[in-house]
Amino acid sequence: YTINPFEDEGDLSALLELSSLEHSQRINQEELLSSARATTRELVRGLAHEIKNPLGGIRGAAQLLASEIESPMLHDYTNVIIEEADRLHKLVDRLISARHQLEFSETNIHEVLERVRNLAEADPASAKITIQTDYDPSIPMIPADGEHLIQAMLNLVRNAMQSINNAREPVENGEILLRTRVIRNATIGEQFHRLAVKVDIADNGPGVPPHMLSTIFYPMISGRADGTGLGLPITHSIISQHKGLIECKSKAGKTIFSVVMPLAVAE
Ligand SMILES: Nc1ncnc2c1ncn2[C@@H]1O[C@H](COP(=O)(O)OP(=O)(O)OP(=O)(O)O)[C@@H](O)[C@H]1O
Ligand SMILES: [Mg+2]
Repeated sequence: YTINPFEDEGDLSALLELSSLEHSQRINQEELLSSARATTRELVRGLAHEIKNPLGGIRGAAQLLASEIESPMLHDYTNVIIEEADRLHKLVDRLISARHQLEFSETNIHEVLERVRNLAEADPASAKITIQTDYDPSIPMIPADGEHLIQAMLNLVRNAMQSINNAREPVENGEILLRTRVIRNATIGEQFHRLAVKVDIADNGPGVPPHMLSTIFYPMISGRADGTGLGLPITHSIISQHKGLIECKSKAGKTIFSVVMPLAVAE
């Protein structure tokens, strides 16, 4: 709760604001995630370079082999080696690129979201999906790294599109909503913020499978056959570097990923 004094026609009064227990649960969840993330970061840093070098060697050798052999069937094998090496290479690149130092400047969150919307609409995967927006025009500029925020939000929108498109029971009128709001009195990690911006990415797909809900922010957790399970950990890492939090509420037909970032300087 918070107590604020205020004066009413000379009388000094106090305003008591009560808010739900959800906050403290969220903090614990965040703490857990950050310590898991620190461990992962160390692991990734070490692994990435160790993987990339031998991978180059494997790919090169497979290419040489391919140029020496004639049987098309054996070429199928060398192609598998080359394609899989490329896939791993890309995966490692994504892991490393998510660790770049962020560059902060005054950023308009709606410009970020409009870029994300344009990119999503240019993607053939969005052909049967309507992307709606519901922006709060009163949101001021926030200190942020625009390019990284675009990446973070785009990962969420891509997941929403994939979920709608891959649904076992086809989704009629697939819809994604990008919504922004100012919220008061947000607790992010251990910090209290009087004002924060909340971005919701909502979709009407089948939802996150309940057994996955507690692990989707961990690396390499994917419900898709061709998923790498890196989208959400990368998004989480970028949002954390903005001192923000991300959470997910999901049920069939309604999934909302919410990003909350502080608007003003922490108190
Ligand atoms: N909007 C959503 N609706 C339903 N399930 C979702 C949604 N967003 C994420 N998920 C589930 O969470 C999993 C993890 O998502 P994440 O973005 O981390 O990895 P991915 O999409 O599988 O692979 P990548 O993003 O690396 O290509 C997804 O595979 C999916 O099962
Ligand atoms: Mg993803």
